[in-house]
Amino acid sequence: MEKFTYYNPTKLIFGKGQLEQLKNEVPQYGKKVLLVYGGGSIKRNGLYDEVVKTLNELDTELFELSGVEPNPRLTTVQRGVEICKEQGIDFILAVGGGSVIDCTKAIAAGAKYDGDAWDIVTKKHIPLEALPFGTVLTLAATGSEMNAGSVITNWETNEKYGWGSPATFPKFSILDPVNTFSVPKDHTVYGMVDMMSHVFEQYFHHTTNTPLQDRFCESLLKTVIDTAPKLLEDLENYELRETILYSGTIALNGQLQMGYRGDWASHNIEHAVSAVYDIPHAGGLAIIFPNWMKHNLNENITRFVQLAVNVFDVDPTNKDDQTIALEGIERLREFWSSIGAPSRLKDYDITDEKIDLMADKAMVNGPFGNFKKLEKEDVVAILTASL
Ligand code: NZQ
Ligand code: ZN
Repeated sequence: MEKFTYYNPTKLIFGKGQLEQLKNEVPQYGKKVLLVYGGGSIKRNGLYDEVVKTLNELDTELFELSGVEPNPRLTTVQRGVEICKEQGIDFILAVGGGSVIDCTKAIAAGAKYDGDAWDIVTKKHIPLEALPFGTVLTLAATGSEMNAGSVITNWETNEKYGWGSPATFPKFSILDPVNTFSVPKDHTVYGMVDMMSHVFEQYFHHTTNTPLQDRFCESLLKTVIDTAPKLLEDLENYELRETILYSGTIALNGQLQMGYRGDWASHNIEHAVSAVYDIPHAGGLAIIFPNWMKHNLNENITRFVQLAVNVFDVDPTNKDDQTIALEGIERLREFWSSIGAPSRLKDYDITDEKIDLMADKAMVNGPFGNFKKLEKEDVVAILTASL
């Protein structure tokens, strides 16, 4: 293992009926509350009414920012910052999926900064403070509810970047599996692909002596693989939603990644793809990740063999490492296809036309990836294999 410091101050409030806890949490931060949400799913499933009723009972002065896009945009962040500054907002409550939460993080940091919020996303300004915010999560996927990261898209320049600061951990996050019942099948699939991808990003490293971390990762992957087909047949099953909701949080709250550094190159490539084509984040990951794996197979093949045997139950008898590793990747591809995830860029009508542009966008900060540093030609090769 490598030396590490683990810090996560987010209070996780999990389970049926936990929305009640808003009454204890929100008053700690002030009276003027900005409610941030997406395109209307919380109005259709009744959560909006419940949240507003609770906030009204607390005698808060309520402001709203609605219409946060999937792949949240800078322009929406800027609108939110403006409201916070003009109205003197004390606290922000994000009710939604990763996009709503990521947008809220950028608003919270932007509200304490005199310049443009894009400076924060592009790391020209490192925020040391932010408005306090909490979340009510409605979609199991990103882990944003219990980490400090945020991903924002500038649609005018076709740039999508992740950023984060110790100031942008949610103060609390309320996770009630019931609030994820209405997530449609496609986004349920994307969410499960995303959390599995977060584990893969962390699993591929060169650090030795990480047996417990490996088993944490492998058991999370196996849990999602076992649960996914059952959940897709029964979208309102409380226990299955509960398992997936918890898995998504653990996959990216820092708990798995103690004592080593993950890779994160596939996420960087996907962000470049969705910056240009605005496709769902995990749709892109489902296409790119198996091709990243094949491209880097010989970097440390024992990791791929271990994944194939321990997670995908590949029988290693009388097989060489290459065969075992490739069989594992094939089983991942088959699993994702079996639950309805896309497998080729052409599923989104993406051709080779803009591969060079996407590769340039991925390379904006130079070679990247901690497992294998990717150069532009590697990115082009992975994207070409993904066509
Ligand atoms: O906008 P509404 O109407 O709420 O609809 C959303 C949206 O259309 C819908 N939805 C959410 N909860 C629902 C629901 N529909 C019915 N019932 C519910 N309970 O689902 C759609 C997708 O929502 P979104 O928030 O975009 O999905 P997700 O949580 O997957 O977030 C994706 C964003 O997070 C970023 C991605 O790049 C992308 O921009 N990521 C953030 C990370 C982080 N902060 O740590 C890490 C991730 O790797 C990822 O990059
Ligand atoms: Zn992700």
